[in-house]
Amino acid sequence: MSNHPITQSPNSSSITQSPILSIIGGTGKQGTALAARFAKAGVQVIIGSRDAQRGADAAKALNARLNLQNISGTSNRDAAKQGDIVLLSVPYDGMKPILEDLQDAVQDKIVINIASSLDPEKKTRAKIPAEGSITSQVQNFFGERARVVAAFQNISPEKLESEDAIIDSDVLVCGGDKDAREKVIALCARAGIDAFDVGVLANAVAVETLTAVLIAVNVKYKVKGAGIRLTSVPRG
Ligand SMILES: NC(=O)c1ccc[n+]([C@@H]2O[C@H](COP(=O)([O-])OP(=O)(O)OC[C@H]3O[C@@H](n4cnc5c(N)ncnc54)[C@H](OP(=O)(O)O)[C@@H]3O)[C@@H](O)[C@H]2O)c1
Repeated sequence: MSNHPITQSPNSSSITQSPILSIIGGTGKQGTALAARFAKAGVQVIIGSRDAQRGADAAKALNARLNLQNISGTSNRDAAKQGDIVLLSVPYDGMKPILEDLQDAVQDKIVINIASSLDPEKKTRAKIPAEGSITSQVQNFFGERARVVAAFQNISPEKLESEDAIIDSDVLVCGGDKDAREKVIALCARAGIDAFDVGVLANAVAVETLTAVLIAVNVKYKVKGAGIRLTSVPRG
């Protein structure tokens, strides 16, 4: 992990110990909510966009809205190059050219896939890709030097943007590298998000398809942010 000092930050001593989080597609709804949550916790966040100016503008607007200075914005590729942890926050159907663009930049980094395995025709229905999960597809595409995990599939932007110090929705983290899972869980802890290690890459299918269940709950009960909470596990 790099230790990049940040000046003029609300809490620079904690920022220096944190990995830099780059959010690819951070101009969108979920990416903005994640950027806000982590930036408010003192993490240095880089918003990536297919258009560098759009990324910079989104960062400026978010800094202004939150009265922060630790968010910057640029192209997806430069964001990935500058970050320690690269979070993919783009729609699954537009992901391939993004992965091609980032191939070199993500080598030796932790990559987070937040996309879910949903039927594009009906998002209350799970649809599993041929490779078992989107996270597996991303891992296969980038190769073994990128350590890819699934996380944040089951948490809504409304929860992430809430003012609650602790979010009542758990994040499930799985992937082929234990150290990568632990680092993502530690990052979540900084932002008041309870994240849990739910095992190996093969389990990503469960995490990704669970989103269809939660969307079905949202629809049935007319709510926005249905999430999940593990029971009988130690917290804090
Ligand atoms: N929204 C939710 O409730 C939620 C919850 C959990 C997980 N997720 C996951 O989070 C990811 C982002 O969701 P979102 O709702 O934030 O998506 P979004 O707003 O539709 O898109 C996010 C960003 O991706 C880029 N983008 C849009 N269409 C693209 C395409 N066809 N090809 C490449 N880039 C494209 C855009 O950035 P630029 O134009 O600036 O490049 C856009 O701002 C998805 O994988 C989604 O499954 C969403």
